[in-house]
Amino acid sequence: MRFSGHWIVGLDFPFRTIDEDFLNVSETMVMRRVDLRSDTVTKPTEAMRAAMASADVEDDVLGSDPTAHRFESEMARVMGKEAALFVPSGTMGNLISVLVHCEVRGSEVILGDNSHIHVYENGGISTIGGVHPRTVKNKSDGTMDLDQIEAAIRHPEGALYYPTTRLICLENTHANCGGRCISSEYTDRVGQIAKKHGLKLHIDGARIFNASIALGVPVHRLVEVADSVSVCMSKGLGAPVGSVIVGSREFITKAKRLRKTLGGGMRQVGVLCAAAYVALRDNVGKLEDDHKKAKMFADGLRQIKELTVDTSSVETNMVFFDIVESSLITPERLCQVLEEHGVLAMPASSTSVRFVVHYQISESDIHYALACVQQAVQELSTDGIAK
Ligand SMILES: Cc1ncc(COP(=O)(O)O)c(C=O)c1O
Repeated sequence: MRFSGHWIVGLDFPFRTIDEDFLNVSETMVMRRVDLRSDTVTKPTEAMRAAMASADVEDDVLGSDPTAHRFESEMARVMGKEAALFVPSGTMGNLISVLVHCEVRGSEVILGDNSHIHVYENGGISTIGGVHPRTVKNKSDGTMDLDQIEAAIRHPEGALYYPTTRLICLENTHANCGGRCISSEYTDRVGQIAKKHGLKLHIDGARIFNASIALGVPVHRLVEVADSVSVCMSKGLGAPVGSVIVGSREFITKAKRLRKTLGGGMRQVGVLCAAAYVALRDNVGKLEDDHKKAKMFADGLRQIKELTVDTSSVETNMVFFDIVESSLITPERLCQVLEEHGVLAMPASSTSVRFVVHYQISESDIHYALACVQQAVQELSTDGIAK
């Protein structure tokens, strides 16, 4: 049992009761919690819960669930593509998309070495799809050098030996590169390369709406040259579950089959699509606020001398900061101390920490989290328990 009264805003006496269970519950009640681990941690809003409760549903595997159908049609329209398909997760959205474009085993996909598909999706494209990844270094802004992309495309004359390049993948925003936005001009140029070589282009657009808002470019324009896009509804948009893939009618027909193969056929899925519809309707407009709060947070962190943050790289809702080399503080220890005070964050590397802002984080939460970081850094720097 830890007491940390001086961290608990509004609590000016040690909190004690005789019942341990009650004590835990009560402590939870008074402990301020600012969850900045990811934008996946949002809880469904009242409007989402109400929409879920009243959703008109049918068995979507047997036919079309009307709420799923309405949501998918709306997503296809917004993204400027012929058709859309609701899938359980971004990981499945990316996997299905890659597998549809790489139907022949031994196909190769060109993708960033720091991309979510390559780093965090269990190598599913290889283990499940027999697709070979060919990585190109991601620059710090999330792009890949265009010449390097072109150079990575296998020469068709070597088909007896090489895997066959069939697909290029981009990620927008790029999570591991700090939520940086990929411009439509850059995407168009990659699209031109893909077209020139008869390849497909897939965008992992888990946070494509963040990019659209930050760049001031309509989302359909950002993905115009893409053959498929996977969009997460359960990140900054706040739906409890689900992603959507969009593309041509032919692509979606194949995707639907693969979704079933992977166990992603969902029966009364309208319950989830109803929440996703509300997320799309109500929350795209809130992303700009998240971006402002992330900038505010980064500006505050910059004032703490043991930390470095490149505020110009904070383009959307993610803030990555480094701990200066001379410091004894480790990201793990810093996150542990912050957690004791209700501020949740994730180490991003052996020297850096990541905070992700979402619409359930208020300005006051940002101020509180900043105060906690400042105090934690001070404590860890002086008490010799940093390592
Ligand atoms: C860029 C990116 N793509 C894909 C995913 C996968 O989404 P999911 O967690 O829904 O599988 C994530 C998850 O954080 C992500 O950040």
